[in-house]
Amino acid sequence: LAGLSRRPDTTVLRWGHRFRDQRVTSHVALTARAFGAAGFVLTDVNDNEVKATVEKIVANWGGQFRFEMGKPWKQTISEWRRKGGLVVHLTAYGENLQASNVVERIKAAGKDLLIIVGSQKVPQEFFSPDVSDFNVAVGNQPHSEVSSLAVFLDRLHQGEELKWDFKGAKLRIIPETHGKKVVRARK
Ligand SMILES: C[S@@+](CC[C@H](N)C(=O)[O-])C[C@H]1O[C@@H](n2cnc3c(N)ncnc32)[C@H](O)[C@@H]1O
Repeated sequence: LAGLSRRPDTTVLRWGHRFRDQRVTSHVALTARAFGAAGFVLTDVNDNEVKATVEKIVANWGGQFRFEMGKPWKQTISEWRRKGGLVVHLTAYGENLQASNVVERIKAAGKDLLIIVGSQKVPQEFFSPDVSDFNVAVGNQPHSEVSSLAVFLDRLHQGEELKWDFKGAKLRIIPETHGKKVVRARK
């Protein structure tokens, strides 16, 4: 990817996928990609439809983006921590990202980040320092895993990710004041 370096690595962990509500997990993954994360992990379950959706977007719209699924969340987190990465849990109950310096502290650490987003009520352990180095609130009002992830990643990357050029794209949008323009890369 052009633009910002992908170090430190930011990977999003989605806990609590619901098969009757698959699109939300797909939207979490696509938000992760579009807002500059390097990868996505759907823990505890396999969903091949979500995988196919994400892989199709990456194939058409470019960039590199890791997709994993099925590993238990405890294993994913313990492996991440063992390699020296930090864990950030996005939750309405955490430190307010606007009213505190939590984002500066996370950036200053300069480490790879695993960003947990939940769905329904998450396991209590997620709040513990044994799991999460930081519990971060995108405002202390309940909203959604998609909105909280977008705002957090955008603060982390200071908006620069919105200008990134996703390498190897087959399709590219040419921004227009009015209208829709999509060009195909030459083979
Ligand atoms: C629809 S919410 C459900 C939260 C659930 N009711 C609870 O009490 O834990 C799903 C996910 O969105 C994220 N989320 C919602 N509001 C948030 C906020 N204000 N700040 C950060 N993350 C938030 C969290 O990751 C949460 O697990």
